[in-house]
Amino acid sequence: MKTRVAVFALLIVAMLLTACQPGAAGGGTIKIAILAPLSGPVPTFGVSTRDGALLAIEEANAKGGVLGKKIEAVVADSQCTPDPAVNAANKVIEQDKVHYIVGEVCSSASIPISEIAEKNKVIQISPTSTNPTVTLNADGTTKKYVFRACFIDPFQGTVMAKFALSKGYKTAFIMFDQGNDYVRGLAEFFEKAFSEAGGQIVGKESYTKTDTDFSAILTKVAESKAEVLFLPDYYNIVNLVGAQAKEKGVTAVMMGGDGWDSADLDVKAADGGFYSNHYDAADTRPIVQSWVANYQKKYNSVPDALATLAYDATNLLLAGIAKAGVDDTDKVAAAMETLNFEAVSGNVTFDKQHNPIKSAVVIAVKDGKKTFTASVAP
Ligand code: PHE
Repeated sequence: MKTRVAVFALLIVAMLLTACQPGAAGGGTIKIAILAPLSGPVPTFGVSTRDGALLAIEEANAKGGVLGKKIEAVVADSQCTPDPAVNAANKVIEQDKVHYIVGEVCSSASIPISEIAEKNKVIQISPTSTNPTVTLNADGTTKKYVFRACFIDPFQGTVMAKFALSKGYKTAFIMFDQGNDYVRGLAEFFEKAFSEAGGQIVGKESYTKTDTDFSAILTKVAESKAEVLFLPDYYNIVNLVGAQAKEKGVTAVMMGGDGWDSADLDVKAADGGFYSNHYDAADTRPIVQSWVANYQKKYNSVPDALATLAYDATNLLLAGIAKAGVDDTDKVAAAMETLNFEAVSGNVTFDKQHNPIKSAVVIAVKDGKKTFTASVAP
């Protein structure tokens, strides 16, 4: 009798353990966490990301969900900042028991989230974090559970370096936030590509995220006579620096990366500038045009790159889950590696480091408008 009770107890324990595994089908829904900076320095990034991901989930649910289950979104505010990002990731994993995370936008937030995801065997797909280390361990190996839907900064830095040189500019001054993984990385990749292709870096100055007065650095920019001021920061900083540069009469052409992409970019402050980005809403491919129309119908605005990549990232994840055929993150990670998926921002297959190989576009800011100028393939 005793042994029968013991065997029975063991069986129950085994069943409970299985039920707690990420692979076990639990309940009638599949939960996907959306970690986005809804507050903090760059709220337009968060709102667009949430809205793009939610639209993908809504469309998928209208077609029956995934694995025959309804998809449930769990939205958390990760603020584009490491500590709130860690708290949000722990909360959705521990309390909401999600197996899947779409997010974050900012590399400095995605990197700590990726470590938590990896430890918990939770799949993370960042729509827009471009720093290489998001998907890489310290030893250079690939994080098994971490993917992204965007190109990476060595490519983006090279695109802008070559673009600057193609316009005949041979000298550049770089300004960067030392504490921001994305900004610091992109500054370095631009510097390397620009000098290797024959350009000259005539100055490089760092600042911190709390700085609001850039006049000392901008004086140096003016004195250096640089033709290009490379400022690979987010729109909130570009707005400040751009306005002060104009006030000071700095003539260097401002250039930057995807971080400029926001409805709140001050087009007066950034006038005359150029930035690289992931997609262009005027792209005539049918998949782009139907996406833009659907998004506009729902949210009454044209989707920016953040919304588009969040939509793509969510669909990539859903395609991975569907291909795996089971809610088991080991199997989903393996299935993701073999996807060949037509996303709005371009066709996606993942390389060995879980990065898609995709083209970039260069956007010009001129007279209040943001206009597509070039598309650059890897
Ligand atoms: N690439 C930026 C980062 O890694 C985030 C970003 C992407 C911002 C696209 C705007 C548009 O931090």
